[in-house]
Amino acid sequence: MTALSVIIPTRNERENVALVLDRLLACVDAVDDVDVEVIVVDDSDDDTPDQVAAYPVRIEHRPPADRIGGLGGAVMAGVRLARGRWILVMDGDLQHPPEVAIRLAKAAMESDADVVIGTRYAGRNTGLDGATRLFTAYSALGLAKALFPRRLAAVSDPLSGLFAFRRDAIDLDRMRPQGFAVLLDLLLRHPGLRIAEAGFAAGPRNAGRSKASFGQGVVFLRHLLRLRRHRLAGQLRHRTGGSRLRELGRMVAFGLVGLSGLGVNTAALWVLYDRLGLHHLLGVCLATIASTTWNFALTDAVLYRRGPGRAARFWRFALVNAGLLVPRLPVVEMLVRAGVNVYVANVVTLSALFLLRFLISDRVIYGADAQRRDPVRTLVDLGPPLASRTRYAYLPYRYDVWGLVRIGSQIMLPELEYFRAPRLGADQVDITVRVGDVGGRRPRHRATMTRHVGHDVLRYEEHLGRLGANFRLELGPVTDVVVGPLLAHSPHVVYTNIVEALLRFTLVSRGHMLLHSATVSLDGVGIMLSALTDTGKTATVLHLVRDHGAVFLSDDMTVIDASGRAYAFPKPLTISSHTLRAVQAEDLTPREWRRLRFQSRLHSKGGRSLALRLARFNLPIMGMNALVQMIVPPPKYSVDRLVPCRIGDSAQVTELFVIERGPSGETALDPADAMERLLRNTDDAYGFPPFSHLATALGYERLREQEREILSGFLAGVRGRVVASDRFGWSDAIRGHLTRL
Ligand code: GDD
Ligand code: MN
Repeated sequence: MTALSVIIPTRNERENVALVLDRLLACVDAVDDVDVEVIVVDDSDDDTPDQVAAYPVRIEHRPPADRIGGLGGAVMAGVRLARGRWILVMDGDLQHPPEVAIRLAKAAMESDADVVIGTRYAGRNTGLDGATRLFTAYSALGLAKALFPRRLAAVSDPLSGLFAFRRDAIDLDRMRPQGFAVLLDLLLRHPGLRIAEAGFAAGPRNAGRSKASFGQGVVFLRHLLRLRRHRLAGQLRHRTGGSRLRELGRMVAFGLVGLSGLGVNTAALWVLYDRLGLHHLLGVCLATIASTTWNFALTDAVLYRRGPGRAARFWRFALVNAGLLVPRLPVVEMLVRAGVNVYVANVVTLSALFLLRFLISDRVIYGADAQRRDPVRTLVDLGPPLASRTRYAYLPYRYDVWGLVRIGSQIMLPELEYFRAPRLGADQVDITVRVGDVGGRRPRHRATMTRHVGHDVLRYEEHLGRLGANFRLELGPVTDVVVGPLLAHSPHVVYTNIVEALLRFTLVSRGHMLLHSATVSLDGVGIMLSALTDTGKTATVLHLVRDHGAVFLSDDMTVIDASGRAYAFPKPLTISSHTLRAVQAEDLTPREWRRLRFQSRLHSKGGRSLALRLARFNLPIMGMNALVQMIVPPPKYSVDRLVPCRIGDSAQVTELFVIERGPSGETALDPADAMERLLRNTDDAYGFPPFSHLATALGYERLREQEREILSGFLAGVRGRVVASDRFGWSDAIRGHLTRL
């Protein structure tokens, strides 16, 4: 089957088309083992068809009567003739340099995107000749973006004439492009497309005149309005989120709840400040807790009438309100110092944040779970990558994960401390982590993942330019990671969002898998536990270790192989509030203990679910995450600090328990089912962005296949059970089960 069809629409391009085809065919020849066909769809009145005749390309000449749709119709006619799995559309006047166009198409074919757009707005050169043409191009762009702000949010050049798309991602019968709005029509009529962009410098038109005219402008406007109407009709049919009017209603109700909350807040502040004599800022904090609880009870029960999952919603709600204390407190203090009454200052700052609180509650906390459009923009860079400047070459921290993966890092990675290997040579590592300058100087509208084609370089940059959470990966025999300064201060984020993902890929290439699960060895029997995040897995492990004398191997991730062997992977434990009860605190100072209780709140369910929800919006989520981790570091205690225990090396696993919440009971689990659950739970652990972008670039599909194979070997000698409990009774059930064996 043809791999790529190149479609070139032409209208009176007699001086240009031969040059285009010469250069195009020259680089198509160089494209090894890609089978390419070229289709020229011609609407000319000059002798363009004669110019094309000498070339090994297909020409479709449309006589004047058949020229429906103009440029758009011509492209569609070409697509109907095309046999390629991928289709590249490009202009026939050399404004799209054929070498660049082919490079773009090849990049697209290697990517997992459905459409790759050549954008003129990623660099300076727009290639638009003349001020008028420039002006109309910008107006058309502005208009399109204004009419479809969300759908075109991540697309900088929806009117580009250079783009490549996957043939089977597009439904031809849906498309009705008119004139120049070909790509726009395609994008708007296929909402679910995975889109990437590649910046390129458009050249000047070689000869002849542009076919953009006043008439084309009118065609464009009419088409835009038609698309808009079509979209509105679609919206009415699929509307789920409620109308503007209903949103306004919710805002009013939210306001009434908030008003009552103001009363509660002020009363609480009066008691704390006036009666109990607390410092006014402390009073403001504590009063906020009181009113938050009040507001939540009313909002949740009356306004949104939500069912289960209440605790998680409460913690999201509470975290948002606690977070808003950060901007509030300094303002309260300023006002008070300026002589404003404490109660007035409190109410003023609360009211000022009303709209923000409503929006966060409505969109983030109570917003529909439906997947929104991915906020991260994907760019393909067709040029060679810029080297990132690192200030430092020496890697003081070396880690050796069971001789399988070796890491050298400039920053300490607390999660890997167990694997510290000071004697490991710098030339023996598989992954390096350094600090350097990544990312452009200027801020950007959204987070971007850029892939350099043919160089295996990936760059993730967030909104804040150099200051944001940026990193760069260069893949090769050694994977080099460079993280920006912000991430360098949050090694926890570097580890969980970058290094652990890379570990997973490297381990698989060595026949091992990093499985989201906990493992202990009890009386010589290897036991694996799996659960969705935040079920109670860690608590169960701690109970097994503390009450039943199990040897600890891992709590969050386990290294396994296809022979059923599990290797220890002891990270510092993430202690959620329900896990605290299983901790034996003798070794902790009272201060550490207090801190742990606070940290456990933030870093458990509420914090994670809030972060996951925020990640769907156009926010610098990794940077926010890094900041939070810097302010409240995650609990950093290793398991033997929390409960006295021995950490083992490896164990042959024969028992698997999938733990669930629910009425107590045990059911057998067949191997296929066990496999699905383990994989699902592993995916769940990697839900946080930008993992999905990293993963696709690194070849996630293949990884999953290989992991499947390893896991199926591992499970061959394992008996699986589902253990349900509603009272955190898993460890006793497991113990009981083993004694019965
Ligand atoms: N078959 C056919 N029929 N081809 C056409 C027609 C038509 O009615 N009109 C234009 N073309 C061909 C031209 O021969 C050229 O190869 C290509 O389409 C682009 O036309 P230009 O006339 O060179 O357009 P431009 O350079 O002003 O516009 C560029 O920017 C637009 C957005 O601002 C192009 O890249 C357009 O595709 C793009 O939409
Ligand atoms: Mn042109």
